[in-house]
Amino acid sequence: MPGSRHTYSFPTRIEYGPGAMTDLPAIIKQSGLRKGLLVSDPGIEEVGTPEILRKAFDAEGMEIVTFSDVVSNPTDENVYAGTKIYKDKNCRFIVALGGGSPIDVGKTIKVMATHDGPVEKYDDAKGGDRYIQNDMPPFYAIPTTAGTGSEVGRSSVVTVKRLNKKMIIFSPYMMPDIAVLDPKVTLSLPPGLTAATGIDAFVHNLEAYLMDTFHPFADGLAKEGLSRCFKYLPVAVKNGENLQARGEMLMASAMGATAFQKGLGLNHAIAHALSVFYDTHHGLANAAVLVEVMKFNQRDSAVAAKLAALGTVLGTQNDADAVIKTINNLVTSINMPTNLQGIGIENSQIQALEDYALNDPLCSLNPAKVNTGDVVKIIENLL
Ligand SMILES: [Fe+2]
Repeated sequence: MPGSRHTYSFPTRIEYGPGAMTDLPAIIKQSGLRKGLLVSDPGIEEVGTPEILRKAFDAEGMEIVTFSDVVSNPTDENVYAGTKIYKDKNCRFIVALGGGSPIDVGKTIKVMATHDGPVEKYDDAKGGDRYIQNDMPPFYAIPTTAGTGSEVGRSSVVTVKRLNKKMIIFSPYMMPDIAVLDPKVTLSLPPGLTAATGIDAFVHNLEAYLMDTFHPFADGLAKEGLSRCFKYLPVAVKNGENLQARGEMLMASAMGATAFQKGLGLNHAIAHALSVFYDTHHGLANAAVLVEVMKFNQRDSAVAAKLAALGTVLGTQNDADAVIKTINNLVTSINMPTNLQGIGIENSQIQALEDYALNDPLCSLNPAKVNTGDVVKIIENLL
């Protein structure tokens, strides 16, 4: 039942349920740990959730030191500041409470706690994962949004200020020891952010499912994640206090991020371009291009067949057109855009957006082949 507590290991240990966050200190204490670093951000501090967690650590007689200065596109400076506190205060574990940013910074502090700097040494694009050893402190992640799924992921993204470059740090050892999915923690998320982060979770499940890779485990998760987003995202947007909808969306988000071990595709490649050029929210960018990208993917007969098979999952006919129409209805029902008219794209910038998207590593993973000019057409159709 979504309203009760469960323990799963697939593959991250998941503590799910209302109250799971305040149970965490006692679980950590069982490992003999007494002092840790809490990583969060100013917005979440304002909501008051970190204070509830600090009191839970207090109640167990444990010591928690807070670093709440994480910014929304986190930087290596955040990582160094948090690592300094971790070391100066002799912490032994890390808890991250937040959206993707505090969780990504927490994961990177975990690396820097036992590895030499700088952060860019571990840039995945340059094979930096080979330097990451399995000697890092325990790490616990508590998501406050249901979207990125970073709490079950093995990578982090930070901007290296000196180079003004976003870097992916990846290692299987960076996987959180426990992901705490507590629907009470997401109750205060406003409708706009619930919709934008939730559609990101939907697209993770959808693009992972459509990937042309043999991974039935991930496919099973992706279909369950899609079904949950379809049923519960509109409920969570309309009634944020609905604990069941919040819980189902946290599950859908974790399922999406687990499933996208298969990879993601063109939808995310274009969303990344929009975020870099216009600072568009990642979820909103994914929503805006979703229907047009699926129409493009549909031209590939194998992808069209997979889309058609989703009819059963999304409560419509097993027909690709009907599935795409249902996806369009989902996006509009949560007041997310289905075009790019509000972003301010000038005609002269469209080619640069395509160039960026075509060079995104995810573009080459897309199950329908993307050729020069395809992204330009997709964007033009959305203006
Ligand atoms: Fe995403």
